[in-house]
Amino acid sequence: MKIALLGCGTVGSEVVRLMRMRTTELADRVGETVEIAGIAVRRAGKDRSHLGVADDLFTTDAIGLVKRPDIDVVVEVAGGIEPAKSWITTALAEGKSVVTANKALLAADGPALADAARAGNADLYYEAAAAAAIPLMRPLRDSFQGDTINQVLGIVNGTTNYICSRMSEAGISYGEALQEASDLGYAEADPTADVDGYDAAAKAALIASLAFHTHVDLSDVHREGIADLTPADIKAAADAGRVIKPLCIASRDDDGISVRVHPAMIPLGHPLANVNGAYNAVFIEAESAGRLMFYGAGAGGTETASAVLGDIVTVARNRRSGARAFPPEAAYGERTVKPIGK
Ligand code: NDP
Ligand code: HSE
Repeated sequence: MKIALLGCGTVGSEVVRLMRMRTTELADRVGETVEIAGIAVRRAGKDRSHLGVADDLFTTDAIGLVKRPDIDVVVEVAGGIEPAKSWITTALAEGKSVVTANKALLAADGPALADAARAGNADLYYEAAAAAAIPLMRPLRDSFQGDTINQVLGIVNGTTNYICSRMSEAGISYGEALQEASDLGYAEADPTADVDGYDAAAKAALIASLAFHTHVDLSDVHREGIADLTPADIKAAADAGRVIKPLCIASRDDDGISVRVHPAMIPLGHPLANVNGAYNAVFIEAESAGRLMFYGAGAGGTETASAVLGDIVTVARNRRSGARAFPPEAAYGERTVKPIGK
């Protein structure tokens, strides 16, 4: 099975490394060799010799790579709306299954991409798009489909949780903490997506859509970031026996669905108060399953690549068996969201 890898930055370079490291295991698990046959990047001249792959694998012609007849599966880890959307829709239209970590695109165009997957008889998997290494999309997409979820509550952005944690634990400034998060590969290419809450809002829209079986649009999500957070806020929270955490809350009641992301002061005894660094945690409350907690790395190249590789194995197995698991978004009808305050 031949893969086109679109993007080779924090996540993509770890996808390359892990696939090289686990070549034999992946082949055993899938039943055939799984090989990266081309890698699209923006900067052709960048030295990537540390990855140990042949120079001629790299190209700046992503769409040409996607269309190559020998490519079976497309893995998009470049980010952004365009050209990623065109690459993915082209792949799906050609019946090539897609794995992506691109929550911004999925939140903006999820239903259209799901329709494209169904039309192309191709898979579209995106486990890495929310909460990175934590299995969350697939449990929501599959495991809870026989249950009724009433609330999803948690921390879904690693960068802002890292900033809050470092300001609180190490007493460093907001700017220093953000710089650390960027240096560690947690932040988006444009970190305002993290600190202004857009990244968390995109993940919240994906989570709520899957949890509540409807299309929750990005514009339905109430969004507040942490860009104005000061050491005085951190101290005021500590003085009150609390800690500031970037929360995501998606809930459903008789009035409809509300989805919001914002920083909040939570008591030190709350389980989320001890989720620190770039870790994420998500509680799901379902009528029959009860209350569940998912916890783990919410950002980082290696951790995110783990989720991407899991999706690659799934689409590879589906491809071999002829099975397809169309994203449920393709079946959604009218939106039933009652946005907060409306
Ligand atoms: P990076 O900015 O580190 O890497 C982006 C890669 O995409 C680079 O290799 C870049 O090329 C390439 N690229 C960007 N634009 C183009 C283009 N127009 N044509 C060809 N190549 C292009 O991003 P990340 O690896 O951090 O993130 C990738 C995706 O994964 C994003 O959607 C992000 O939201 C998501 N994600 C990231 C996580 C993380 O912890 N970092 C966690 C979960 C999801 P070049 O190398 O030449 O610059
Ligand atoms: N920038 C994102 C975060 C990456 O910090 O959570 C993981 O989605």
